Amino acid sequence: MFLVRLIYTSKTSHNFGPEDIENILEKARINNQKKNVTGLLCFNNKFFLQCLEGSRQAVNDTYHHILNDDRHSNIIMLNYTEIIVREFEQWSMGYMPQSSMTSPITLKHSGTPNFAPYEMSGESAHCLMLALKESIRTC
Ligand SMILES: Cc1cc2nc3c(=O)[nH]c(=O)nc-3n(C[C@H](O)[C@H](O)[C@H](O)COP(=O)(O)O)c2cc1C
Repeated sequence: MFLVRLIYTSKTSHNFGPEDIENILEKARINNQKKNVTGLLCFNNKFFLQCLEGSRQAVNDTYHHILNDDRHSNIIMLNYTEIIVREFEQWSMGYMPQSSMTSPITLKHSGTPNFAPYEMSGESAHCLMLALKESIRTC
């Protein structure tokens, strides 16, 4: 089965608490490992930006679960494409908190230095996530 990449953005529901992000990551990593889904989740305490990659079946299935999760809302798909290779193969779900998203990196990929994924194109969001991956490699 060939590979696809899906990128979406969303925002937290009003009752979202600090323990929610830990629960999401724990569950995501367990489920994704079983389905060979890999990816990256960026989160600045308000907005999510997530990349999922894997077989079309596995990515679509995971996204359907995510769409029905009431811990977030306003879910907008930014990018869905067939890919040849994975880019986040080392992570069943990598995580970039606010502190990892420095202004120079976000400014390079968007109109402001703030993390504003609703205002980003799918390709810019994709490039931002690749840059974030590289930034932790070079630290
Ligand atoms: C922002 C966000 C990202 C999520 N990412 C994933 C993910 O990558 N993989 C996953 O299985 N579930 C993810 N979830 C959780 C799913 O929405 C859902 O709760 C979970 O897949 C249910 O798993 P279960 O049927 O094994 O209980 C995410 C939820 C949110 C709010």
